[in-house]
Amino acid sequence: APGKLWGGRFAKRTAEVVERYTASIPFDVRLVSQDIRGSIAHVRMLARIGLLTEEEARLLEEGLRKIEDAVRKGEVRWTYADEDVHMWVERLLHERVGPVAGKLHTGRSRNDQVATDLHLYVRDEVRRARDMLTDVRRALLELADAHRDVVLPGYTHLQRAQPVTLAHHLLAYFWMFSRDAERLADLDRRASWSPLGAGALAGSRFPLDRFFTAAELGLSTVYPNSLDAVSDRDFVLEFVFALSLVAVHLSRLAEELILWSSQEFAFVELDDAFATGSSMMPQKKNPDVPELLRGKTGRVVGDLVALLTVLKGLPLAYNKDLQEDKEALFDAVDTVLAGLEVTAPLLRSLTFRTDAMRRAADDPLLCATDLAEVLALRGVPFREAHEAVGHLVAYALASGKSLRDLTPEELLRHHAAFRPEDLKLLSPEASVAGRKLFGGPAEEAVAEQIALARRTLEEE
Ligand code: ARG
Repeated sequence: APGKLWGGRFAKRTAEVVERYTASIPFDVRLVSQDIRGSIAHVRMLARIGLLTEEEARLLEEGLRKIEDAVRKGEVRWTYADEDVHMWVERLLHERVGPVAGKLHTGRSRNDQVATDLHLYVRDEVRRARDMLTDVRRALLELADAHRDVVLPGYTHLQRAQPVTLAHHLLAYFWMFSRDAERLADLDRRASWSPLGAGALAGSRFPLDRFFTAAELGLSTVYPNSLDAVSDRDFVLEFVFALSLVAVHLSRLAEELILWSSQEFAFVELDDAFATGSSMMPQKKNPDVPELLRGKTGRVVGDLVALLTVLKGLPLAYNKDLQEDKEALFDAVDTVLAGLEVTAPLLRSLTFRTDAMRRAADDPLLCATDLAEVLALRGVPFREAHEAVGHLVAYALASGKSLRDLTPEELLRHHAAFRPEDLKLLSPEASVAGRKLFGGPAEEAVAEQIALARRTLEEE
């Protein structure tokens, strides 16, 4: 195929429809800076083992740097005939430095090259994702710190369950995102193996110093098996899974903001700068941002499933199917990072309707568990205590009374171990204050939790 870097054995030009169908350049052009970094490391290594003279290496490295510059300034264009980012950069290099450019690909295949680019890309984006997660976690921590004494109902089955504090509720998300950050740090270790030097699949007869290129690229070690090196996309999958889970966590948080900003809850008010209106209904203020955080999670999960499906039937080693890894990865990165970027300021802009939260938590039924627990503290078997309080609740509901309006006599009638002062337990503040255990919602426990959260952020 005239004009192709691999054209020697071909008698005909590639059909245009094939060029368009097989090209990855429209999307893998995003890897250009990683590709150039990989090439520079390779050039330096080739000089080190004597396959390039110092002068050749200098020319190549300089040419590659100029290409990066030209790309950044938008001075160069790709065409479908370039096929992918690797061949595009090589063509540009030929145009700039002449025939010595033909030495760049010594001992290298696009298979180990693209794998190297992807490792570098994943590591770059993991770092960005972690920074953005840190910002979201900081925002949650600031809000928690500022709302330590705001009580609201905690829910199970979306039914009011037991009172908690807003700080406690927000910190639940802090810990989800902390595990996400840890997951990213963990997969980053596996993303830092270098495939470079694996060649097309089976290495080469050149004495390539794979450890040298790995070190040049900031990678911690090299794949011990050349076949695995060019076939592995575990690190991509792990990253997209970690991003999917971030998206799911964002989506759960978003769902609560949507619910809480409804008039039925009215626990939160979105800032005008973070809400949108209706083209027909003048009164509307819509939570579009959290809705998109929730909605976009679908495509990230789709990206994960797409990748798992591409991988599942592939024999060793490289197969063109692997080219399908990129768009799913890029889409997951773009979608989740954009979500994290908007979440931190969205959180900081919220106004919590703490009076509405307090009002919703002020139902003494939410303290029924506290009544059962004090009976159990006095030696009553918990099952018996649970049943006695159950009867008490049924009695109150049937007589149209609040638990708080019951007399000490009515209390005692339901269990002899009750004491008149137990009625004082029936406020959300008293209920929360009683649950001081580690990880609980009481003020002291939340203070400890906030301190731990701060330390977690500092130690990262
Ligand atoms: N564009 C290809 C990809 O994204 C690069 C590797 C091509 N290798 C090959 N033997 N065709 O996977």
